[in-house]
Amino acid sequence: MSQTRRLFVCTNQKSGVGDDVAKALKKELKIQGLKKLFTGGEKQRVRVQTCNCLDLCKQCKKGPGAALIVYPEGTVYGNVRPNDAAAIVEDHLGRDRVVKRLLLEE
Ligand code: FES
Repeated sequence: MSQTRRLFVCTNQKSGVGDDVAKALKKELKIQGLKKLFTGGEKQRVRVQTCNCLDLCKQCKKGPGAALIVYPEGTVYGNVRPNDAAAIVEDHLGRDRVVKRLLLEE
């Protein structure tokens, strides 16, 4: 059975950085060949989706980056910029390691 992993990126900033983050994540998934993963013997698809607000607005409206949540694990990242996409894809999705410098404690 396959499972879908989703990255929800807030695009509610005036700067529009969330759209750029989402594009950068999609590009990195392609470059790193991780659109489809095998984790724990299971096939996984990874989808990047944009959304209006994740109720983490301090992380979106005051900093230069965007907030995003990775499901199903529910990891929350803040102040994510397009050049952070490679680390999120490689470490979080590829190696199951949280990117600590972007992690938000709720
Ligand atoms: S504006 Fe991005 S989380 Fe609310």
